Amino acid sequence: MRTPAISFLSLLLLWQPARADINDQTSAKVDRGTFDDPAARLRPRFRYWLPDAGVDVQTVQDNIKSAGAIGAGGVEFLPFYNYGGQLSPEPTGANWTKDGFGTPTFHKMFLGALEAHKEAGLVMDFPLGPNQGQGVPADPSDEGLQWDLIPGWGAGELVALVSAEVLSTKNVSLGTSSGTSLFGAAQTSYLSLVLKNGTLVDWGQNVSSTGHVSLRFPSGSSHRLFAFYQFLTHEKNLEYSSGNAKTIWDNGSYVVDHYSARGAQVVAKFWERYILPDGVKELLMEVGNYGWEDSVEIRSNISWTPSLPEVFQSKYGYDLKPFLPLITFKDNNINVQSTNPGQFYCVLDTPDQGLGYFNDFRGALVAGYRSYLEELTRWVNRELNLQMSAQVSYNLPMDMEANIPFVNAPECESLQFESNIDGYRQFSGPANLAGKRVISNEMGAVMMKAYNLPHSELLGYINRAVIGGVNQVVLHGQSYTGDYYGTTWPGYTAFVYLFSELYSDKQPSWGHGFGDVLNYTARVQYLQQSGVPRTDVVIYNKVSGTNPNFPTLYSSNDLIDAGYTYTYVSPDNFALPQAQVKDNVFGSDGPAYKAMVITSSSNLTLEGVHYIQKYARAGLPVILSGGDPGVYTTHDSRDTPAIKQAIQALKQSRNVYSVSTGKVAAKLQTLGIKPQVALQTDGTWYSTWREDVQNGMDHAFVFCDGNASTGTVSIASSKTPIFLDPWTGQKKPVLEYTRHGNQVIIPLSLAANQTVVIGFIEGAPKPVQHATQLPSSVLGYDYSQESGFELYVSASKDRQSLILSNGKSVSISGTNVSEPSKLSNWTLTAEHWEAPSNISDVDTVAAKHNTTHDLSSLVSWTEIEALRNVSGLGYYSTSISWPPTGHRSADGAYLILPAISHAARIYVNGQKVPPIDFSAPRVDLGQYLKKGSNQITVVVPTTMWNYIRSIAGEIETADVPLQLLMSAVGYTTLPSVTDNGLIGTVTLVPYVKVHLE
Ligand SMILES: *[C@@H]1O[C@H](CO)[C@@H](O)[C@H](O)[C@H]1NC(C)=O
Repeated sequence: MRTPAISFLSLLLLWQPARADINDQTSAKVDRGTFDDPAARLRPRFRYWLPDAGVDVQTVQDNIKSAGAIGAGGVEFLPFYNYGGQLSPEPTGANWTKDGFGTPTFHKMFLGALEAHKEAGLVMDFPLGPNQGQGVPADPSDEGLQWDLIPGWGAGELVALVSAEVLSTKNVSLGTSSGTSLFGAAQTSYLSLVLKNGTLVDWGQNVSSTGHVSLRFPSGSSHRLFAFYQFLTHEKNLEYSSGNAKTIWDNGSYVVDHYSARGAQVVAKFWERYILPDGVKELLMEVGNYGWEDSVEIRSNISWTPSLPEVFQSKYGYDLKPFLPLITFKDNNINVQSTNPGQFYCVLDTPDQGLGYFNDFRGALVAGYRSYLEELTRWVNRELNLQMSAQVSYNLPMDMEANIPFVNAPECESLQFESNIDGYRQFSGPANLAGKRVISNEMGAVMMKAYNLPHSELLGYINRAVIGGVNQVVLHGQSYTGDYYGTTWPGYTAFVYLFSELYSDKQPSWGHGFGDVLNYTARVQYLQQSGVPRTDVVIYNKVSGTNPNFPTLYSSNDLIDAGYTYTYVSPDNFALPQAQVKDNVFGSDGPAYKAMVITSSSNLTLEGVHYIQKYARAGLPVILSGGDPGVYTTHDSRDTPAIKQAIQALKQSRNVYSVSTGKVAAKLQTLGIKPQVALQTDGTWYSTWREDVQNGMDHAFVFCDGNASTGTVSIASSKTPIFLDPWTGQKKPVLEYTRHGNQVIIPLSLAANQTVVIGFIEGAPKPVQHATQLPSSVLGYDYSQESGFELYVSASKDRQSLILSNGKSVSISGTNVSEPSKLSNWTLTAEHWEAPSNISDVDTVAAKHNTTHDLSSLVSWTEIEALRNVSGLGYYSTSISWPPTGHRSADGAYLILPAISHAARIYVNGQKVPPIDFSAPRVDLGQYLKKGSNQITVVVPTTMWNYIRSIAGEIETADVPLQLLMSAVGYTTLPSVTDNGLIGTVTLVPYVKVHLE
């Protein structure tokens, strides 16, 4: 009778918590909600700027709930402290000792924010420190804080004393004026030295405890001594000092060591001691989403941690210290310190100039930074059963792609990536290969666009990010709406009006159309977080330091023109367990790349080329483009001959091909490798493809980047195509397509910035017939299980024919349908949203009043004298008589609007109609029109800038006037007024319904 016991045991095992919460893979089971109404976790969140922890908890809670009410999934709760005090100090009246990160007031605030999320069914992300989360308040002697290495006669702990024979020196001008940026003054020149190879010696061991050493050098040559000291930087991510130093909060907050696990441990201990007790941990485990760290904007002389020499020794098998003179240049923050690369730059008199040592140093940083990321991730996973997200690596002098797999949800950003799709491809490749379910993006920060970013522009950035592989956005950002010290209406403004966007209910679109943008984004995320992303081609990319400006790496257009999708990986990613070739594809459970491309501008590592040889042997086609790739130098270039030989051997191997630049797509075609979504268009279209076995649907996401264009998409699938509309949440079968065997070809016309989602599902709709050719008079259609397709036919001169998939021709007549008409005689009621008479009254959303304007045509508010400096809501009304008079008839009508810049909602006789696609606005009014007179109202919110600009002189935030900071960063004039309102023509297009038998 053992069986029951065994069953009981297996039952117990089954009942173990699945810990799905820390499963970061595409296969993880997540409550997704539905396409129409995605779950909170899959919805976009706001980066919420809490001014400091002393503000009103109730207002914060209301802000969070308000975000949820219009469609956000929660907030990323960021204690901002004026960008860590870097843009401006604590304003008069604030007390950042009392209200600092982790204080009792912060604890209460944090708990309040979590409670608001719980009550509203939302989830919350939480930075692990104030400002960008790079550290926490700490004892300044804590050795887990940030370290630096300084060359020269300095203070601190001596790390090495290196001598070298100097062959030449010269002063090099950087060609930069000594301007200042947000990050300090620029350096104008540096000293360049050529050192004699083989003469670099570390005398550190010979230095006495009192700092003395006696050295002799041969005469007749010039030697130089380089001393290197390590020290704790005391860099702060909250630049603040009360002058008191009684508690850790009197010193602001310190950046922790980002190159060892110790830095992560400082953060973890702080949370365990000051934030998690008294209910926070439990609530966080319930409604927390991601622990998170922003892009790393920390500065140093040389990126460093004391354990780096050991890490280096074990990774590369030789001593770093003698070569320290070779790593003093461009090994700090290569983004925010790009104008301060270092005071001197040493090279060797060898062919590679010592680049191999420089590369190995950066490789050791990769290992150190990985320990930091892994330790943080482990802590968030184990302590909270939650996941870790971070803006991995970029800005720091490392190969970004190497460490992207080492957090749960890697995050990139639209600002630093300049919305360049190729930049996103560099980020998403390693994440996709590693099977990550979520690739996040800090979305929508644009310089000089505060209160001035139209939603259509935001949507363009979102669509480009999605094409690049992103499937979650955190919108930058949401404002605290209550009072703050030294702050006028419209309220606390993070980054002092330098960056978009400041979302809150003070934005007229908040309750009038922004929700449509959030729901669109949520539904796109829902789809892009389902199943597995498949990518056609992987491009090899190895650099020692990722360019933080993300220029395009693959610059030929052949792949894009043919519709091939591609992402990049580093050879460092070849060590991932998923980096295997099976059935001739690479990463078969993930992107399932069908070929690997290596361009002549890339550099191969020895390990990398061996892996690639193995992949080719296992069946993966490898295409060398534009000639032989170069060599990635390491150590003293001792591997170079072996790498060159391996490249030659690779070229002779089966499955390896060489083509000239721009001919990769042609080669793929001859190899029989087709793009999963082939695109033919007179514009620029991009696509993604995901396969979702769990939910039984694959889908293509197609985006028109540029002008309106037409073409076809051709997709290999035996399943039935359906359209999914992220604007409305509706699905319906595709009416018009042709099928050739396994290939489905769908004609499309896309407006600028328009997207289309085509799903593929099992089973055919009823009736089985669809159209293979549709006349232009068929403007749209409806579908139901019971009655099949119903065509909406507009007026046409002649009868037209529709071809069915069984070859039969059906005659369609639009000759008796009423003609389209342009709607005119608009009355515009402009609701002005202005500052309250007391401009320090921040709580008031706006002082509102109306003006009325008769419009003969729909022009921008900037062209209506009385509205030039006005922001608010436009109520555009006109009336139509229904049905149209005359002997022709109509069953209903489409309303076709011009492209919507910001937002618009349509009402017929006071009844709200479904959301419109802003890029190609068109809505069926059939069920809303009644006999007689019908009032059509389009409600159009404006951005806030035109009004704010007109009162700019009165505006300040946290004691800083709006204009002060703009001029400090070089803007002498304010951004000009921008177009607002409904601009163009609105057309009513009647139709009759024709049932497709
Ligand atoms: C700030 O708060 C701390 C802690 O409550 C207190 O000791 C200090 O006096 C306050 N500073 C000011 C300027 O009020």
